[in-house]
Formats: sequence, C-alpha cells, structure tokens
Amino acid sequence: MSVLLTGGLGYIGSHTAVELLQSGEDVVVIDNLSNSNIKTKTNIKKIASEKRKISAKNFKVYIGDLRDTNLVEKIFTENKIDSVIHFAGLKAVGESVKKPLEYYDNNINSTLSLLKAMNKFKVKNLVFSSSATVYGQAKSMPIYEDFEVGATNPYGRTKLFIEEILKDAYAADSTLNIAILRYFNPIGAHDSGLIGEDPNGIPNNLMPYISRVATGRYDHLNIFGNDYNTHDGTAVRDYIHVVDLAKGHLKALKKLRKNCGLQIYNLGTGVGYSVLDLVNAYNSVCGNKVKYIFAPRRPGDVDICYANVDKAKKELGWTAKRNLKNMCKTSYNFECKKSKLK
Ligand code: NAD
Ligand code: UFG
Repeated sequence: MSVLLTGGLGYIGSHTAVELLQSGEDVVVIDNLSNSNIKTKTNIKKIASEKRKISAKNFKVYIGDLRDTNLVEKIFTENKIDSVIHFAGLKAVGESVKKPLEYYDNNINSTLSLLKAMNKFKVKNLVFSSSATVYGQAKSMPIYEDFEVGATNPYGRTKLFIEEILKDAYAADSTLNIAILRYFNPIGAHDSGLIGEDPNGIPNNLMPYISRVATGRYDHLNIFGNDYNTHDGTAVRDYIHVVDLAKGHLKALKKLRKNCGLQIYNLGTGVGYSVLDLVNAYNSVCGNKVKYIFAPRRPGDVDICYANVDKAKKELGWTAKRNLKNMCKTSYNFECKKSKLK
C-alpha cells in the first residue's frame, strides 16, 4: 500500500516524503511543478536512500495537475493507495488578492477532484494542509483549535472552504478519517541541505528573504513594523521546523489508520518569537550578514500569533523538537548549497 502526496515535490511535501520513505512507507506523488522543481524527486530519493534502498516501486512521481480527473483516476488505478496527504495548492496571500479566481479554481477544484477519486476508489484516510491563517485575528493567545475562524484574504478563504467541504464529506460518510492540520509558520530545511524552501521570484515570507540577504542576493531585509505591542515592537509568530512538521504528518497518518473520524490539530511549537528574535538567531549562525531596516507595517499582518499544541501532543504523541537556532542553521546551509550550485 502507498501514501499519495499531492504537491509532494513542494517545500513541506518533499520533507514529508523523505520521512515517510525512511519510515518504510511507499510514496506516490502528484505535482504539476507550478511551484517546485523536478530535481527535488532525485534529492528526496537520495536522502531517503541513506536509510533504506528505494526502488521505483517504493517511490513514484506523476507530473500533472490534480484537477485532471483522468490522471487522478489513473494514479488510483495503477497504485494501491491507502491514505492521501493533500499539500497541493497555491499559497501566496498577496497573489491570492490579485488573482482570486485562480486560487479558488486551483485549491478548491483540485480538492474536489481528489475527494471524488478517493470516494470512487474507497480510500478513506486523508490529511489536509490547512493553516493558522484560518484564525484571522484571534481574540487571545495561544490559539486553540476550537477558536472562531474567519479568513481575511482569498487564500485563507480557500483553506476555510476546504475545511467546510471536508466536514460535509465526513457528515455524509462517517467511515472517512480526516486530519485537518493547521500549520503555523514552517521554516528551516533538511539537514542534508538538499531540500528546502526556494520560492520563485521575490519571497513574501520572512525566512527565505533573510536567507537571500545572508547569502548576498539582496542587500537588506525590510522589517515590516516595529511599533507592535510585543517585547521588541516587531511582530511575533510561531515558527516551526519543517522536519518537525513533516514528522507530525506521520503521527497524523497513524491516528487516521486507527479510525479517528475528523480531527483538527494545530501544528506549531507553542512559542512565539519576534522578527528581530529570528534575525538575531540567524545572525548568530551566519556571522552577522543580515542587515535590516525598519519599514511600515504590512497590511493585513497581525501583531502576535502562536498556537496551543496540547491536542497534538495528547492525541498524536507529537511535539516539535527543534529550536530557532536549528531552524536558522538549516536554512542557511540550504541557501549556501543552492547559491554555490547556481
Ligand atoms: P509549495 O508551493 O512548496 O508546495 C505545493 C506544491 O503543490 C508545489 O510543488 C506545487 O507545484 C504543487 N501544486 C500546486 N497546485 C497543484 C495542482 N493543481 N496540481 C498538482 N500540484 C499542484 O507549498 P508548501 O509550503 O509546501 O505548502 C504545502 C501546503 O501547506 C499548501 O497547501 C499550503 O497552503 C499549506 N501551508 C503552507 C504554509 C507555509 O508557510 N509554507 C503554511 C500553512 C499552510
Ligand atoms: N516580514 C518582514 N519582512 C519580510 C517578510 C515578512 O518583516 O520581508 C514579517 C511579517 O510582517 C510578519 C513576519 O515577518 O510579521 C512573518 O511573515 P511571513 O510572511 O513569513 O508569515 P505570515 O505569518 O505572514 O504568514 C505565513 C504564511 C501564511 C500562513 C501563516 C500561518 O505566509 O500563508 O504563515 O501559517 F497562513
């Protein structure tokens, strides 16, 4: 039996593929390469092979779009799929405001295509990549899973709508097992430096931008806002190492296989760090190469956002292990390797 990863060549998908393969699972990926590179397939195999011999039977990649229902049916026909982890989607908040229809089409229709195929082939287990963005401006911190939800942009709304679609699908078929994972801020890279986050164009997110300043691609970082109500005036987030996050998916899969019904889990560390905390941690590993200036607040940003992670700890037996310094060190290592190769 195999686990199907939609968007499995992307940032979080590739790290999860490695963890799954190394733990003895067989993996099938579908990815349209809209935000990833085919070289990642080789790198996943290379890393996983250090622990286990990986053949074409253990790891298969289909290049194509999840909305292509013929291709999706072919994948379910050609492989014995036991569970699905659904990462595929567009994820840039700013772009979603400019191109809402593209976001609704890609994120919602690909999910419907997947759910229809799962229904047809009687595949019952699904992990879905949701986001802390669904909490919008939370009323207090830390954020618990039962807090009110409400998105502030089209990207966030696709996550909210998909969560609703999954709840409806479960209401109609209680034999489904669905884990909705609400990620906080994933950063860092694999220890090997072979896979990590490498967005096309100018990064919107903090960590890839810092990494490019550290390796000389950009002159300085703009820190958006230093007048927030936080310990140093810069905004606070719950940064989580992508390898910890990937391991969380394995725990969720284990839970699904015990017939858990529909469950929602926050995946974060439970600790908030400011933009300046992150810059300082990065500077301690790269030798003070990250210059910055303060710039106005970015519209739509909240001052503080961090998770309560008790539910994942109690029910999945999962907690994040890696600290901020390790997140910075692995990001820097990945960025340096990549810069040398370019
Ligand atoms: P990513 O862009 O690196 O990976 C997504 C992958 O899906 C890419 O490889 C892309 O090519 C593929 N893809 C997109 N649309 C597709 C389609 N229609 N058919 C086939 N493949 C398609 O993003 P990521 O950071 O790995 O995020 C994975 C998931 O987690 C996304 O759903 C994202 O919204 C969610 N998420 C990410 C973050 C984050 O900060 N990275 C935070 C919260 C939630
Ligand atoms: N920031 C800067 N300068 C930059 C980029 C970001 O100061 O160049 C600041 C932002 O203003 C914010 C913090 O760094 O205060 C973190 O910003 P990110 O863009 O890295 O992350 P966000 O918290 O805004 O959002 C991310 C994803 C969302 C997801 C959310 C929670 O982009 O999709 O985490 O998971 F929903």
